[in-house]
Amino acid sequence: DTIGEIISPLLTWYKGQAQTRQLPWREEPTPYHTWLSEIMLQQTRATAVIPYYHRFLAAFPDIAALAAADDEVLMKCWQGLGYYSRARNLKKAAQVIMKEYQGELPSTQKQLMALPGIGRYTANAIASIAFGLPLPAVDGNILRVIARVITCRDDIMAARTRTAFEQLLLPHYPTGKDAGALNQAFMDLGATICLPHGAPHCSRCPLASLCLANETETQQEFPQKATA
Ligand code: ADE
Repeated sequence: DTIGEIISPLLTWYKGQAQTRQLPWREEPTPYHTWLSEIMLQQTRATAVIPYYHRFLAAFPDIAALAAADDEVLMKCWQGLGYYSRARNLKKAAQVIMKEYQGELPSTQKQLMALPGIGRYTANAIASIAFGLPLPAVDGNILRVIARVITCRDDIMAARTRTAFEQLLLPHYPTGKDAGALNQAFMDLGATICLPHGAPHCSRCPLASLCLANETETQQEFPQKATA
């Protein structure tokens, strides 16, 4: 099926363009680096996150240091990023990790989702990027790309659409390095090619020949969002 056919061109594209999007958390995707970056990226653009990511790691080089963080220093490191509960949850989770997991971030979706600040999307992003587990991290980018490829008119704001897309992707997910590469390929495709507004850059898209929205020139009709 179409979903199975998009995996390999997407991975090939990601590997080929990796040099063009250099993000520091991709250099050494340890569990701690991946966790920290995914929390910072939850509500903030990658370019804005980069300087904070470096400063945070300088102040708190590992999970033990984060668990013992001085609250004032912690908040100062986060100043300007917004959504400060993210920083408080990071420290709380670090304390749980020290106590329950001997300082090592757990790897399963269920264990990750039990930590403060980690929902299903973030758990799957961490599990795939840092641990190589075959789990799709379904965010707005994946929803838009898939909705266009298969011209799916379901409301992407509905939880059941997200679940359905995750189920659609799950059997095709690779393990190991490619799991994280595939999720980040969707993120990069959504950020640079399959744009939400304006004309997407279909002429440069690795999925163009498989994409029904491109074939029917209906890119702008997808994804569908129910209007309140
Ligand atoms: N947004 C969320 N996670 C990301 C990642 N790993 N790389 C780029 N953008 C992201």
